[in-house]
Amino acid sequence: MFRPARAPLGFPAFGGSEATEPMRSVGETDSLNAWQAYYQGLNDAYLFPNEYVVRTFLGRYPGLNMPQDYAGKRVCDVSCGDGRNTVLLHKLGFSLHGTEINEAVCEITRRKLLDHPQRISADIRPGLNWDLPFEDGFFDYMLSWNAIYYMRDADGDIRGHVREHARVLRPGGHLVCSVPAPGCFSLAGADELGDDLIRLRGGPKWGMLDGTIYRRFRDFGDIEQVFGGAFTDFSRCTIRDDCYGLPLEYFVFVCRKA
Ligand SMILES: C[S@@+](CC[C@H](N)C(=O)[O-])C[C@H]1O[C@@H](n2cnc3c(N)ncnc32)[C@H](O)[C@@H]1O
Repeated sequence: MFRPARAPLGFPAFGGSEATEPMRSVGETDSLNAWQAYYQGLNDAYLFPNEYVVRTFLGRYPGLNMPQDYAGKRVCDVSCGDGRNTVLLHKLGFSLHGTEINEAVCEITRRKLLDHPQRISADIRPGLNWDLPFEDGFFDYMLSWNAIYYMRDADGDIRGHVREHARVLRPGGHLVCSVPAPGCFSLAGADELGDDLIRLRGGPKWGMLDGTIYRRFRDFGDIEQVFGGAFTDFSRCTIRDDCYGLPLEYFVFVCRKA
């Protein structure tokens, strides 16, 4: 999600939804409102998947260990944003499910996917990292692309997020996940809160992230400690990209539910 910020294009009407909204704390409301405004402003943007999502789902690499038989399998695009990666998952033949922070954002994404030339229909439900609205063992694959580390507040527990993701995945199912690496632009200047939690300072360019609390990951050892209670068989990829002066640095990993 690294498109330049754009002026909001106007607020579509989202009345009449019967969907259940996930529980949230007072402290996180600003951050969720900022994301909602962002997606409302992106309403007409093109949908194109992240290059490393393409590589992971389609590529053959020496250290990548994930079966690539996707047709008819259930995938959850957790915090799918405006559905840019969901388009690829559709092309791969998955049965499509996903989450976003509230019904308004879910509706933006459903409509964008239906407006796509391929008329993509996806089951997108409101859900947060600690409360995913699906039954146990429902999914064969999950994609959590730059999302699992968004914390409820400074008391948030990343291991609870990991357990919740593992809960809705079937035993043997695969999680594809990315998180910012320490040199990533989004972490610059953040305040340390202890226990690897940080509070972001988005600065003038990324002000919408101001105050958001992340669980920051130091390295793959840290990742495997946190995820290793529920997952095994880790494949690792590091992205280090100086993108016209914007450092994009991420850890990407694929792991299997134990
Ligand atoms: C960096 S964007 C990534 C979106 C999408 N996966 C993509 O690659 O385009 C982070 C996403 O996390 C969602 N988000 C913010 N707080 C969250 C939370 N507490 N739980 C789950 N998702 C959250 C935002 O709405 C946003 O869509």
